[in-house]
Amino acid sequence: MTRKFDHSLWDKAKSNKKDEFYTQLIDIERELSNYKKHFYGKTVFCNCDDIKNSNFFKYFVQNFKTLGLKKLICACYKDTTLFSSEQGYYYEYIGTDTIEPDMNRIIPFRGNGDFRSSESIELLRQSDIVVTNPPFSLFRDYITQLIKYDKQFLIISNVNAITYKEVYNLIKDNKVWLGINLGRGISGFIVPSDYELYGLETKINENGERIISPNNCMWLTNLDNSKRLEFIKLTKKYFGNEVDYPHYDNFDGIHVDKTKNIPADYDGAMGVPITFLHTFNPNQFEIIQFRKGNDGKDLKINGKTPFFRILIKKKNIQETDGLSSLIPSTI
Ligand SMILES: C[S@@+](CC[C@H](N)C(=O)[O-])C[C@H]1O[C@@H](n2cnc3c(N)ncnc32)[C@H](O)[C@@H]1O
Repeated sequence: MTRKFDHSLWDKAKSNKKDEFYTQLIDIERELSNYKKHFYGKTVFCNCDDIKNSNFFKYFVQNFKTLGLKKLICACYKDTTLFSSEQGYYYEYIGTDTIEPDMNRIIPFRGNGDFRSSESIELLRQSDIVVTNPPFSLFRDYITQLIKYDKQFLIISNVNAITYKEVYNLIKDNKVWLGINLGRGISGFIVPSDYELYGLETKINENGERIISPNNCMWLTNLDNSKRLEFIKLTKKYFGNEVDYPHYDNFDGIHVDKTKNIPADYDGAMGVPITFLHTFNPNQFEIIQFRKGNDGKDLKINGKTPFFRILIKKKNIQETDGLSSLIPSTI
């Protein structure tokens, strides 16, 4: 059920970008280079992606053969520039046609192409790995759906998503973890020229695109990557520096201000910032719980609540030279 495409509509669509963040090709290439082995023979679904402007589409088409993909499916939400109603469409690529999107081969959805719609879910069922940058405001629904349909995924989200119950429970249970790049490791997003830039780092890239760098985004995945099994080198000591590690009022554990200050010689519970998850190796640490003390309320130090903490504990400790060294477990 393909349809003939009027190219003047495509031009209109390109110039009529919504107030949204579009991912740069360079950031996709940088992250995806760590997961190549996962893609061989797989169907990839980018379910929040308009092929007219999606660099996820571009990346997978350009790398289709190198990755050994079986199929790429992109689904676009509410393309009012192509359709008179708020209709969406999808596009399937199997490596045989030109790498430029062939708009004559788009397949209109009956509905708007919402990732939660039955039409989009049918495509999700046919897919192995979902890769995209979904709408931040619907992130809870988005990740819940991926888990429900037992999909592998590599997606971009705001770092604050870690504080969502749905997300931190998945992280705690080792079902989801952070990708390689985070914060400044994601160089920025393309925004329309009329985007409000107040308070954000901005630049124009070599393609003339307007880039904002919110520095608060991350990749979230359930695909293994090499970094996940790297051990953090612990260089600090708790004993002798107790004043730097205050005890929580409502939890038997110490407060660690920065990940780099996690002491090597403390075996109990420690509250660390959410950025710890970027270096979290499940063979080195276990996550005890998030944010709350024993009374079910937010953690406190002398009556004050620090920003969201993750309570962790070291695994497999062996004493050497007065400091603890870490040995890998067999997990
Ligand atoms: C943050 S933008 C990212 C776009 C693209 N994935 C990229 O990375 O360049 C999120 C996209 O999700 C689309 N979107 C919004 N609500 C949606 C929904 N309910 N279902 C599917 N897509 C949606 C928006 O139109 C927008 O293009």
